[in-house]
Amino acid sequence: MLWIKAFHLVAVIAWFAGLFYLPRLFVYHTNATDQISIDRFKLMERRLFFGIMTPAAIVALALGLVMLFDYAWMAYKSMGWLHLKLTLVILLFGYHYYCWVCLKRFREDRNTHSSKFYRLFNELPTLLLVAIIIAAVVKPF
Ligand code: HEM
Repeated sequence: MLWIKAFHLVAVIAWFAGLFYLPRLFVYHTNATDQISIDRFKLMERRLFFGIMTPAAIVALALGLVMLFDYAWMAYKSMGWLHLKLTLVILLFGYHYYCWVCLKRFREDRNTHSSKFYRLFNELPTLLLVAIIIAAVVKPF
């Protein structure tokens, strides 16, 4: 199971690389005015989302579920940190889904949010990351 945990963490790191960088691309894309840059951002966003972020999220989820069903649910089901972690992970998937919604709007040139919105939006995964890591590693309650 330690191998599973190791690759769970590798996948989580790859997932977060995308969760941090995609909204950053949205900031630049919002400010872009020339067609060449706009087309380049569309391509970068699509490759990041479908080539890295989503596969990494699926691997992180699959390996997390393997550990959950193998031992973690039985061992920790009465502990609050596990429920908190799983709740925060559901929020993270909501964030991932909303990134996809924004990506589709950009692809169709229908974005309505400002670059300030995406700057603030970009902070959310950091907060979730800190909370999930503390819950999973410190297991404080
Ligand atoms: C996608 C859904 C996820 C599921 C189902 C899941 C499930 C699990 C399970 C069952 C374990 C083993 C728990 C233990 O032995 O202590 C684990 C370990 C861990 N997970 Fe996840 N996880 C998910 C996502 C994440 C995310 C998004 C992060 C980071 C932001 C994360 C960070 C960790 C860490 C750091 C450990 C190692 C804890 C330790 O051994 O001290 N997981 N995960």
